[in-house]
Amino acid sequence: MKNILIIILVLIIIGSGVVFALNNKNDKLQIKETNMANKVLVAYFSATGTTKQVAQNLAESINADIYEIKPKVPYTKSDLNWMDKNSRSTIEMNDHNSRPEIVDDNFSTDSYDTIFLGFPIWWYIAPTVVNTFLEAHDFTNKKIILFATSGGSGFGKTVDNLKKSVSGSTQIKEGKLMNNNPSKEELKKWAEEVL
Ligand SMILES: Cc1cc2nc3c(=O)[nH]c(=O)nc-3n(C[C@H](O)[C@H](O)[C@H](O)COP(=O)(O)O)c2cc1C
Repeated sequence: MKNILIIILVLIIIGSGVVFALNNKNDKLQIKETNMANKVLVAYFSATGTTKQVAQNLAESINADIYEIKPKVPYTKSDLNWMDKNSRSTIEMNDHNSRPEIVDDNFSTDSYDTIFLGFPIWWYIAPTVVNTFLEAHDFTNKKIILFATSGGSGFGKTVDNLKKSVSGSTQIKEGKLMNNNPSKEELKKWAEEVL
């Protein structure tokens, strides 16, 4: 009788161990599936193609969706002349409240938790059209990681300037300057480090 009781006890212990292991496996599977559902987006603005190239390579290297921020009125060569104090870019960048219109194409940030946001540095910060983009969409509780190209300048006050265009629950991280057209391998390694 005592032996039977011991056998039953052992069977109960083994049984609960198996149930625990199965539950645990299901939990892990669920976590993995949730992580995979959290999609990453690469959004960018590029006036002359340099940032666009980096954005495309980054998106390809991490299998992310890509979105181009398009000004309603594209920038011409003379718009971009920073030597001219009357050029469109100089006028816009002198007025931090300027919000150049962007193309409205029903884009939604809904399915993304993390957004890599790329742009050229203009007058030591992001072009104001990037503020337009941030103000046009919902970035509540999302993480934004910046990348930029420039003639040599760093991010300067870029993060502070962009933070003005999102709510307090949006995280904006400075990220990296991508001035030497990094390879897809380099971009992937960087993205995995910051994600
Ligand atoms: C209006 C304007 C302002 C710029 N201001 C800066 C600057 O402050 N510092 C810098 O290093 N480069 C500056 N640049 C150079 C761009 O950041 C650089 O060429 C960038 O890679 C262009 O990217 P894109 O081809 O994606 O537009 C400026 C360019 C323009 C057109």
